[in-house]
Parts: sequence; structure tokens; C-alpha cells
Amino acid sequence: MKDYLVKLRNKLFGVNAVLAAIQELKEELRQELKQKSLSSNFELAEDILALSQKESRATLELLENSYEIETNTTTDQKLKDSQLNVYNFQKMLEQPPSEYNFIRFDPNNNCNLHCVYCHNERSNDIIDTEELKNFLENKVINTNSFQVGCIMEPTLDPRLCDLMLMIAHSPAKPKDMFILQTNGILLNNHDYEKMRKAGLTHLSVSIDSDEPETQKALRSGTNLNRVISNLKGFRQSCPETEIIFITTVTSANIQEMEDLVNLGIELGVNRFSLREIFYHPESKIVDHEKMLALLLKDNEFSKMKHNLIEKFGTKVNLFFADNEWLKTYEVQMMESSLRV
Ligand SMILES: C[S@@+](CC[C@H](N)C(=O)[O-])C[C@H]1O[C@@H](n2cnc3c(N)ncnc32)[C@H](O)[C@@H]1O
Ligand code: SF4
Repeated sequence: MKDYLVKLRNKLFGVNAVLAAIQELKEELRQELKQKSLSSNFELAEDILALSQKESRATLELLENSYEIETNTTTDQKLKDSQLNVYNFQKMLEQPPSEYNFIRFDPNNNCNLHCVYCHNERSNDIIDTEELKNFLENKVINTNSFQVGCIMEPTLDPRLCDLMLMIAHSPAKPKDMFILQTNGILLNNHDYEKMRKAGLTHLSVSIDSDEPETQKALRSGTNLNRVISNLKGFRQSCPETEIIFITTVTSANIQEMEDLVNLGIELGVNRFSLREIFYHPESKIVDHEKMLALLLKDNEFSKMKHNLIEKFGTKVNLFFADNEWLKTYEVQMMESSLRV
């Protein structure tokens, strides 16, 4: 028996020693990779500045990849990337104070549109203002980025700008990006001056086409001309805030991407995020027949991506997220948001 226990102890100590060594190696590698990719991002930016237009096309592919490297590696792995919404708010309040990389916050859980591909459930629930203040003051040590509007439509909440100012005057004032994500239709109901004072760095607007009919068919309840006129008004009041176009690419609008980027350029947009439509067959929200017709075929997204890179070169920043990328991202988000 004694022999057996001694053997077992040696075995366990052996295993522990191996595990500790692996852990140490992993940490060394992580630090090394972090340094390398930080410097290669820097070098990449230098290279791109030095490139002639002719050469720039091929490096755009590198640039796209660098977006991912950037978001993964300039960030300390320990920092959280969390959603904050009516589903997880009470659980988030129970957490110890934390440092965040990204907080994606929805003050409300409703929307003015019914986009054909949107899987998100809605309700009239909102986050209570005082409870939010408590969270921001006592549970956030700091954050690199803060986004308002993630799963629903923040402009539907009349408190929007006051909540943004509350965030800006709390420890959750982001060090890097302060983003408003919206469908853009109700933007003009809000006080742009307050947004400017809150330090909004990016306005990310969902827009699927430069054709009013396509935009309407995909984003039921919207009106392209109204979104465009809101963007013009916003730009005048907040010239420092960068406008981003975020597009859901489906079979109904994939042929219109080039014109959409041109529309963006006309409006002063320099950054475009194009995301392949995703589909959850178990959803009780979406119309499955319509969804199946909107899905892209193999390689369609990739072909579109290469056409746009060919067409626009380094004139604008293009970011592409296919379904594989979105799947990984979604799992990470759900895990770190106490929703799984
Ligand atoms: C859920 S919305 C919430 C924010 C705001 N209501 C908006 O539309 O911008 C965030 C983004 O997810 C995109 N989205 C929704 N359903 C999608 C799907 N099935 N596939 C790809 N993107 C989707 C929307 O187009 C939008 O750009
Ligand atoms: S506007 Fe945003 S939240 Fe509303 S239905 Fe469309 S994608 Fe969903």
C-alpha cells in the first residue's frame, strides 16, 4: 500500500511538474507573440504608408488579417470582452470590480425595425438608470472600449445621450473607442452636442445597400434617404467622430457592395465592415424560408471580398467577417458575458 502511495505521489508530482512547465512555456510564448505581432502591426502600417498604389492591393489582404491580430494581441488576455444587457445585467452586478477590454451595452431591449435576418428576441425591459450608475461606478475599474448598442437599437431609448454622458463621467469612460451602433433611423431624435461632449469616437451605422428598395427589403421599416440625411446632420455636429458602415451581406445585396462603398465614400466614410449573413435554423424569430433564400453560396463572400479589394485598394479600410469568423467571435462573446 505504501509503495503504491509513493508511486502515486511521484506520478502526480510528475504530472504537476509537467503542467507547470507547460503553463510557463505558454506564458513565455504569449508574451513573445504579443511583442512580435505588436511590432509587425507597426511595421505593416509603416509598409503600407510607403507603398505605391500599384503595390497596395496585395497587402490589403495582410491588412485585413492584421485587424484580427490587432484586436487579439494588443489586448491583455485577462481583460474581459463583455456584453451588458437586460439578460445578464443582474449577474454582471454580482461580479467583482473588473478591468475590461470591451463593454457592449444595450440600455433597452427593443427595436424600431424588423430586419429580415435579425434573430434577436425583444421586450420592453430596460436597464434602470441608477443601477447602471452603480455598475459603472463600482464594477468597472476601466475599459479600453465601450459600445452602446449591440443586440438591439439604442436610439429607441430617450435616455441615450444622458446615459452616454454618465458613462463618460465614470470609470467606464473608454480609453480607446466610444462607439454608438445604430440603424440610424432615429438618430436625429437625439442631442448630437451631448454625444460630442461624451467623447463619441465612432458612429457605426448598419446599412445594407445604396438602393432604397434593397435596404427596405432587408431592413423592414427603414428608409435609406432618412438614414443618409441623419448621417449628414450628424457629421456637421460631430465632425471628429468617425462614421463606419456595417453591412450584412446576403444574396439580395451582394451585387450592390461596390455601389454601397462608393456611397459611403461620398458621405466621408472610410471604414467598412462587411459581415456574411449568419443563420440559426433553431430560431423562433426569423422566417426560415426567407433566410434560406438569403444565405450565400460557397465562395460567394470570398469572391466579393477580393473584388472589393481589387476595386478599392487601400483607398478605404475594408474589414470582412465570414461565417467562420463570426462563429468564433459569437462563442467568445457569449462565454465572457455570462450568457452560457
Ligand atoms: C443586432 S444589430 C443591433 C444594433 C442596431 N440595431 C443595428 O442594426 O445596427 C447589430 C448588427 O448585427 C447585424 N445582424 C443582425 N442579424 C444578422 C445576421 N443574421 N447575420 C449577420 N449580421 C446580422 C445587423 O445588421 C447589425 O449590423
Ligand atoms: S435594426 Fe438591428 S436590432 Fe433592429 S431588427 Fe435590425 S438588426 Fe435587429
